Amino acid sequence: MIARIHRGKGERYDDYEVEITSSITVLDLLFLIQENIDQSLAFRYSCRGAICGSCAVLANGKPVLACKTPVARITEQKNSDQVSLDTKTGQPEGGILLEPIPKLPVIRDLIVDYDPFFEEYRKLEPVLNVENVHPEKEYLVGKDESMEMEKYTNCILCALCWSACPVISEVDGYPGPAALAKLFRFYLDPREPGGIKRLYLADHETGWWACDFYTNCKMVCPRGVPPNVAIGRARKLLKDEEDEG
Ligand code: SF4
Ligand code: FES
Repeated sequence: MIARIHRGKGERYDDYEVEITSSITVLDLLFLIQENIDQSLAFRYSCRGAICGSCAVLANGKPVLACKTPVARITEQKNSDQVSLDTKTGQPEGGILLEPIPKLPVIRDLIVDYDPFFEEYRKLEPVLNVENVHPEKEYLVGKDESMEMEKYTNCILCALCWSACPVISEVDGYPGPAALAKLFRFYLDPREPGGIKRLYLADHETGWWACDFYTNCKMVCPRGVPPNVAIGRARKLLKDEEDEG
């Protein structure tokens, strides 16, 4: 099988001829090449268990976590229902094309600079704000509330949704699906006293209101997070408040 991999910062791609077993993941494939063929190949990973979010790549145009995705799932097109993004070169016949995820600057090979993603994320203050709340004992969160929050807490900040969201390229300053989902998670948190005021942080035309509901975010998310649902709910809450006010 041929693995065609983006190299450097520009338009270069290298082809590697590899023998693989059926169970191998995309990350295993990258290690196989790095350890046996080309030690200079650069890619990012940490946990190898779909937890740290650092191994996001574009495989035959599909935004995926390298450590979670079997090569066969890509080459046999078993995920043809998944979101497919434009690639910068053709994929090898029956093989795999690996590229850095789009909409973030490329540092080298498959490694991108996550700064733009995290800059937008930080602007929405993704931390629990309980400054003026002083409970006598521990904070208690009910099971239902906890489960509702968990849908959004599950995000591992891999930026796959960012790379698959057309609005990121269309609207300057759009926080992106993950940041908006996290903001909604803190609105849901019963320990926060601010209520709907939390949602005001993105209540502008480049925030909640910029989403066009492509729903790519939910489709590519490896953790089942539904940012589109959070955005829809936030918009309804803000609209209802405006109508009442
Ligand atoms: S919402 Fe999903 S796709 Fe987006 S950063 Fe979080 S885990 Fe990744
Ligand atoms: S290596 Fe951590 S998510 Fe893939």
